[in-house]
Amino acid sequence: MAARVGAAPGDDLTVAYRRLNAAYQQTLRYAEDVRRLYQQVQRAIYQSLLGLANALEAKDAYTRGHSERVGAWSRGVAAALGRPPGEVDMIGQAGLLHDIGKIGIPEAVLRKPGPLDAEEWSVMRNHPLIGAQIVAPFDFFVGGALMIRHHHERWDGSGYPDGLAGDEIPVGARIIAVADVYDALTSNRPYRVALSHATALEHLTDAAGRTLDEDSVAAFICLIQTLSTANPDVGARSALRASS
Ligand SMILES: [Fe+2]
Repeated sequence: MAARVGAAPGDDLTVAYRRLNAAYQQTLRYAEDVRRLYQQVQRAIYQSLLGLANALEAKDAYTRGHSERVGAWSRGVAAALGRPPGEVDMIGQAGLLHDIGKIGIPEAVLRKPGPLDAEEWSVMRNHPLIGAQIVAPFDFFVGGALMIRHHHERWDGSGYPDGLAGDEIPVGARIIAVADVYDALTSNRPYRVALSHATALEHLTDAAGRTLDEDSVAAFICLIQTLSTANPDVGARSALRASS
């Protein structure tokens, strides 16, 4: 930069430095604005997905409250297992949306008051794929889409849709599976009454290392026992459900 007439070289440098610094500060402010806008867009998309989850709950009485519980417990287990905060959030969100694909399942199958036959099961088993497709357009939720796709995989490889086994199954999907199984066992169904909290925990312990991830089961049992001590309703949901 040419020196100004009558100005000492040091003055020019000071002016240049101040301008540079001001430009840098402005860039930081722009970056902060962009970050905030990005978060706002993410939140808006997430709210829309929640709207879809609520629509599903309106369609399927069983999922009422189920999605929130699975989301909250999955988040708690992920945190207890020491997953990074960003991943804990994503696992919680994927837990909340894990059954979103049921929105694409015909009501005759979804609301059938009894066990499904083989053909109906093959329709029902599409819901993880449909769910993953619903959230696929959102780049920030790629990991969550995988968790949704694989939430019915089993540790021994006997699950669906891809028959993944052990560590091949995304951690979030393994965590969601445990919360999902517990909530299913402790919920009333048209063809069976809800199991007690203690019996459901026995089922989980039995399934650990066979169909469910052992670490996720251990962390879940710790979490649910803490929650049920703090709030006895957690372990007495069958009574709550019967009156609702
Ligand atoms: Fe599911």
